[in-house]
Amino acid sequence: MGSFHIDAKVGDVAETILLPGDPLRAKFMAEKMLDDVVCYNKVRNMLGFTGMYNGKRVSIQGSGMGMGSTAIYVNELIKTYNVKNLIRVGTCGAIQEQLEVGQVILAMSASGDSGANTAYFGGMHFAATADFGLLMKAYETAQKLNIPTIQGEIFSTNTFYDDDPNRWDKWEKHGILGVEMESQILFTLAKRLNAKALTILTVSDNIKTGAAAPPQEREQSYSDMFRIALELA
Ligand code: HPA
Repeated sequence: MGSFHIDAKVGDVAETILLPGDPLRAKFMAEKMLDDVVCYNKVRNMLGFTGMYNGKRVSIQGSGMGMGSTAIYVNELIKTYNVKNLIRVGTCGAIQEQLEVGQVILAMSASGDSGANTAYFGGMHFAATADFGLLMKAYETAQKLNIPTIQGEIFSTNTFYDDDPNRWDKWEKHGILGVEMESQILFTLAKRLNAKALTILTVSDNIKTGAAAPPQEREQSYSDMFRIALELA
């Protein structure tokens, strides 16, 4: 019964799950956007909720920060709870100057520095990509909702703090839009375990320009991102 880090019954988690990093955002969004909400997990306060959105059953759970934490939940959600569609909804630091705070990004691929992947693939580099079907649906849904999105490449890092000021220059040159901390391992594990994954991000800050969102603006663009994810679910 249950898995190591999720104390729920098989069947308590929906086939489609939204994964914000922050468990309190999962709670806030579940209570705001879903009907008939049930909290299925409280282990480590990594809260998980299942409810109904427009007649469809959907779950929202925190993933924690970083690829180590994310990998634990993604493994257990797919292997034990048979989750089929995993949609990360999070934030990123933009590394392209022209990207404004609040911009919604649909991630096509995630480069990254996952040590787990380096070890697993023997030093070779797996190209971690989103599921095309989910990506296309997210794009169409955003168009329908009149929410402007940019489709492109992102970078997942396990190191938030670093003392090299030019750290992202090469990645910027290669068109990477922004930096976050979860998607490379999410995409990789979904592929390995026969599930589908997508990442929708909001730019919370711009690493090049130093711009950052005031809290209220952040709230609006975060809602946009959740609406895209829930509508496509
Ligand atoms: N680095 C990594 N992850 C992030 C950042 C960042 O600057 N901003 C938001 N998520």
